[in-house]
Amino acid sequence: MPKGLHGRWCALTNAAGRLSYRPMASNTFVLRGDFCYSETPASLVMREDGYLVCVEGVSRGVFPRLPDEYRALPLFDYRGKLVVPGLVDLHTHAPQFAFRGLGMDCGLMEWLSVHAFPEEAKYADTRYAENAYAQFVDDLVKGPNTRSVIFATVHRESVLLLMDMLEASGLVCMAGKVNMDRNAPDGLCEKDGEASLLQTRRWLAECAARHYNNTSPILTPRFVPSCTDGLLRGLGKLQKEFSLPLQSHLSENAGEIALVKELYPDASCYGGVYQRFGLFGENGRTVMAHCVWSGDEEIALLKKNSVFVAHCPQSNTNLASGIAPVRRYLEEGLAMGLGSDVAGGVHTSIFRAMQDAIAVSKLRQCLVAHHEKPLTIEEAFYLATKGGGAFFGNVGSFEAGYECDILVIDDANLAPRVSLPVKERLERAVYLSDGRHIAAKWARGVRCAIG
Ligand code: GUN
Ligand code: FE
Repeated sequence: MPKGLHGRWCALTNAAGRLSYRPMASNTFVLRGDFCYSETPASLVMREDGYLVCVEGVSRGVFPRLPDEYRALPLFDYRGKLVVPGLVDLHTHAPQFAFRGLGMDCGLMEWLSVHAFPEEAKYADTRYAENAYAQFVDDLVKGPNTRSVIFATVHRESVLLLMDMLEASGLVCMAGKVNMDRNAPDGLCEKDGEASLLQTRRWLAECAARHYNNTSPILTPRFVPSCTDGLLRGLGKLQKEFSLPLQSHLSENAGEIALVKELYPDASCYGGVYQRFGLFGENGRTVMAHCVWSGDEEIALLKKNSVFVAHCPQSNTNLASGIAPVRRYLEEGLAMGLGSDVAGGVHTSIFRAMQDAIAVSKLRQCLVAHHEKPLTIEEAFYLATKGGGAFFGNVGSFEAGYECDILVIDDANLAPRVSLPVKERLERAVYLSDGRHIAAKWARGVRCAIG
């Protein structure tokens, strides 16, 4: 250590091999444990008793022995525990957390009008929102996800409350003020496209003024039936102006698709309506939830525009939507991750989404497409981590250069035998672990309080 340096400093070598000293940030450390992460959809990297090096929130890789240059870094010793990347929820609705489990005998359109819309109207009241959103964020903090892409409601002030709470949680989230100016009940339906766009601009300015580190806005037209042409067109312009990400729903359910066809008889596919208004990935990152019924033309559009698909198997089952052709999407190389779609889905954990993704892929093979191979555990894990993580950048793996979202699972009492191979421990954790087994988690190299 050079003379005159006080406090905690660490020596690090850069890519050219030059040694430098820097003040030790709390997001710079080494973590020892049994690692499992994805490189490709087909392959898992497993490293029993390895060392993950995290420098300023970013992975330098997982090593079998700790390289000398990192020996001075603080060490978190999780020997014997399973360490995987934090899970990514590519699609969920924060205000629907409060009524999970209700209306699970309805189809999508009935469920929206009987349950989802009346509940969301309550978020005009910020006191209601504060209480309900606190429960949602508390659940996320205690679960295995470190990243979420979130629908809020149309109400600007409540959305900001949610974003403040997400920021305080240490998780990394995109959250959206919903836009809807037709086919919605009073209290939820904005006056017109202009009013909705004005509120959206105000909300974006308020987000910028808050200088969040981990929370960012995402444009959120609910879906085509909820938004007039003027609103969709205006959001397309806004996306271009601010290079914003955008989320919506696409080709989820027969009832919804029939309504879109009625509204746009000239459109050759549902996705074509988003594209017509400049909302289909051309101007920024776009994620579309579901894509259960996308045909050849829509799939080609998704691919051409690098639109992410959020596969939400539990919701698709609960709301009688169908089974998405995930095998085809993987073969086509579409960008894809998993979504809980709470409250179409009941569970926030993306471990649960992995279970459901595998289960429905088997039903699809039995009932719909005999030639389509079901998902493997490797593929489901990839979608839950690196696949969805790509929407955030280099996220969802421990390869060098990836942001360190880390989940440590104490799986010692999940299996009667202690010496299972890492892959089998991962499988058990996916199906059997819950919040009680989470020993620690980090997002972007910063430790999250897990409650
Ligand atoms: N389509 C439009 N809104 C919604 C929603 O809240 N949930 C689901 N699953 N689909 C939608
Ligand atoms: Fe949804």
